[in-house]
Amino acid sequence: MIPRYAPNYGVLDLVRSFGTGETPGPRVAEVAVRLQAILQREHVVPTASGRGALWLLLLALDEIGVSGRVIIPGYTCNAVHDAAVLAGREVVTIDHDAGDINMSAQALEGRIAERDIVVATHQYGYPCDIEGIVDVATRAGAIVIEDIAAAFQGTIGGRPMGSFGMACFGSFDGSKLLNVPPKGGFVGTDDRALAMAVKRVAASRLAAYSFGERLVALLAAAALVVGTTPFLYRLFYNLNFTWKGRVTAETASVAPRLNGYYVKWFAEWQATILSRELDRLEEVKSRRASIMSRYRKSLASTSTIDVWTGKVDDIGTVIRFPIFVANDKIAFHHQLAELGVDTGFSFTHLATDRDSRNAWAVADSVLNLPTSPKLSDSDVDRVVAAVKKLSGA
Ligand SMILES: Cc1ncc(COP(=O)(O)O)c(C=O)c1O
Repeated sequence: MIPRYAPNYGVLDLVRSFGTGETPGPRVAEVAVRLQAILQREHVVPTASGRGALWLLLLALDEIGVSGRVIIPGYTCNAVHDAAVLAGREVVTIDHDAGDINMSAQALEGRIAERDIVVATHQYGYPCDIEGIVDVATRAGAIVIEDIAAAFQGTIGGRPMGSFGMACFGSFDGSKLLNVPPKGGFVGTDDRALAMAVKRVAASRLAAYSFGERLVALLAAAALVVGTTPFLYRLFYNLNFTWKGRVTAETASVAPRLNGYYVKWFAEWQATILSRELDRLEEVKSRRASIMSRYRKSLASTSTIDVWTGKVDDIGTVIRFPIFVANDKIAFHHQLAELGVDTGFSFTHLATDRDSRNAWAVADSVLNLPTSPKLSDSDVDRVVAAVKKLSGA
C-alpha cells in the first residue's frame, strides 16, 4: 500500500542523533542560522512544533504590547486555533472566498482592529495574497504573522514566504517538507524586540525532553520509517486507522492542552536530524517537483474530481496534492485504500462553525494524494491509475 506520508529521515539519521543532548546547544544554534538564511529573517528560534512556535510568538507579542485578537483563516489546522486559545487570546475565524484554500485580503476588510494579529496562511505551500493582507492589516493598525507550516522554502517572486509579515512560524511535523520527530518548528522575525521577547518567554516556559521521552520519540520515528515502506504499510494503516475505526488521527474536538508540543525545547538530537535533512533539501524538492508535475499532467483531464492548479514559484516546495471529491470523500478514501492508495486528510474538522461555508466546502471535499519523495514513478502511476479508475476517467 502507498502511504499518505512518509518521513524524509531514515533509521540511520535517528541513530546518528544518539550522541547529542536534550537541551539546545551549538547544533540548534547552527540550524537556526541555516533557517535564517533560507527565510531571510534576522532572528530564528527553533521550537518543539508549529503550534508551539505560534504559542510562544503570541505570548511574546503580548509582552511587547500587541495584545489584540487572533484572526485566522476558516480553513486551517485546528492546532492554530488551539495555540491562540492557550496563549489566552480571543480567536476570530474568517471564511474564504468560494473555492479558495486561502483567506483573501478582501475578506478581512472591516473585520480587524488595532493590535489584532492576523495569521496569514500559505495553505499547502500555495501563496495567499500576502501583500494584500499586510496592506489591509497595516491600515487597521493590526500586525500579520505568516503561517508557513506548509510553505517552508516557498517563494513569491523569488522572496521567501515568511518574510512578508512581522513574523512567521513553521513546522517540521511528519507531513511537512522537512520532518523531525516527534515534531519541530520555528519562529522567524526581523524585529529584535519581538525576538528577545520570544527568547525570554521560552526561557521561562520551556523544559528539556527527558531521556525517556526522547527514546519514545525515536522509537516511534523508527516505527514510522519501517511502517511506511510500501511492503509494510497495509499493516501500519490497519493498526492506526482501520482497527481503530477511524480514517485520520485528527479529532473534531477543539480541546487545547499545553502538552509537550508547546513546552519542550527543540533539542540537540532534533537539530542533528534536521541538519541532515537541510543537507538534502534540494534533492527532496526536486523529487517532489517531479511527483507533483506527474500528477498535474496525468490528472488534469479527470472530470469528476477537481485538482488544485494554483500558481507557485517552485512546485517542489508544495507539500500537498489536493483533490476535491464532490460527493462522499470518506467513501472515496476507502475505495482508494482498497486499491492500495492511502490519502491524507488536511483537514477534516475545522475550529470554525458551519457559517464559514466556503472553508467547510473545502474541508468536506479535500483529500491529499501521497507526495513523499520516497515514492517511485511507478508508485505515482499506481496512484493516478487508481484515481482515474474511481472517477471513471
Ligand atoms: C497550516 C498549518 N499550521 C500550523 C500547523 C501546526 O503545526 P504542528 O503540527 O507542527 O504543530 C499545521 C500542522 O499541520 C498546519 O498544517
